[in-house]
Amino acid sequence: MFRFEELQNAVADNFKRKKGIRLFNVFPLDCIPIETLKSWTFKPTCMPLQYQTQAEAFANFKVREDDIWIVTYPKCGTTWAQEMTWMLVNDMNFDEANSVDLTERSIFFEVEGIAPTDKCEVLELLNKQKSPRVIKTHLPIGLLPRDIWLKKCKIMYVTRDPKDMIVSYYHQMNNIVSCNMSIEEFVECILTDNMIYSSFWNHVLEFWLIRNKFNVLFFTYEDMKRDLEGIIGKTSTFLEKDYNAKQISLLMEHLSFKNMKATPTCNNESLVKMIYSAYKLEYDEKTAFKFMRKGLIGEHKKELTPYCIVRINAKTKEMFEPYGLNLYT
Ligand code: A3P
Repeated sequence: MFRFEELQNAVADNFKRKKGIRLFNVFPLDCIPIETLKSWTFKPTCMPLQYQTQAEAFANFKVREDDIWIVTYPKCGTTWAQEMTWMLVNDMNFDEANSVDLTERSIFFEVEGIAPTDKCEVLELLNKQKSPRVIKTHLPIGLLPRDIWLKKCKIMYVTRDPKDMIVSYYHQMNNIVSCNMSIEEFVECILTDNMIYSSFWNHVLEFWLIRNKFNVLFFTYEDMKRDLEGIIGKTSTFLEKDYNAKQISLLMEHLSFKNMKATPTCNNESLVKMIYSAYKLEYDEKTAFKFMRKGLIGEHKKELTPYCIVRINAKTKEMFEPYGLNLYT
């Protein structure tokens, strides 16, 4: 059960006026069966209007015990983690990875709840997909299928420095949704939980609090950048898979930013095309948003003002410190 409350502020007005998108806060009303979170208050999540039509279907979705859920806040390394996980789960099937698009191999669970479309096909596609499924989602715990907590399937949570996430998210929203905001305005939206999927900090904290469960693996985009081999090793152990040094070296090459950007089945161009079409925007190869943008740590230093950086760091400290989470400040 959910309650929906329309956002009444400048951001919501902007979306409504420029794109005809109405934004709502979604409040989960059910009790979520996770002992570790029994004193946690689930905060609302900002979602576009059409999320309402599928919210119950998402929450009641039948999960399989051998599913692997890749959960992230947007722009935190989802695609990279999806590709790594899909390869590890599928015996390093390079042929399939290079011929079938990642959006088909690892389906985006709630895509029809966020991109403006009348289609309701994705859950059906998921029901037909062979096991084990590697499913992508940005949903926070309160909106995820309840079955996940009963079936105890594997959850991989990836987070990223919010400053780099914000810059990455800003470019995506500005290009695809043409929200015409300055980066300072966008920072303000994220800080005040007024952007689709907000709040970043609550999202991370919920998974941080359950990180020690046997079926959860928590790591960061920066961990992947600094020690991809180490993360491949941890993920293999988590997935109960064993690969030799040669296979791991080939996988690392496959997962390099350069290779993923150049590989049409790994660079999410098809997802961008789908979103352009849903928003009725013309897709021009040359000028269209490139999902594989920079792939670096610390790019925010070039794009955010010192004031924005101070504000994001202060929010991160305020939110994370009480929980002993010491990332990114
Ligand atoms: P930037 O916009 O900073 O370049 P998500 O998949 O969660 O939307 O995250 C997208 C971000 O991950 C983008 O960051 C993208 O460039 C980066 N990314 C995707 N694949 C990557 C890879 N193989 N290596 C490094 N970064 C990658």
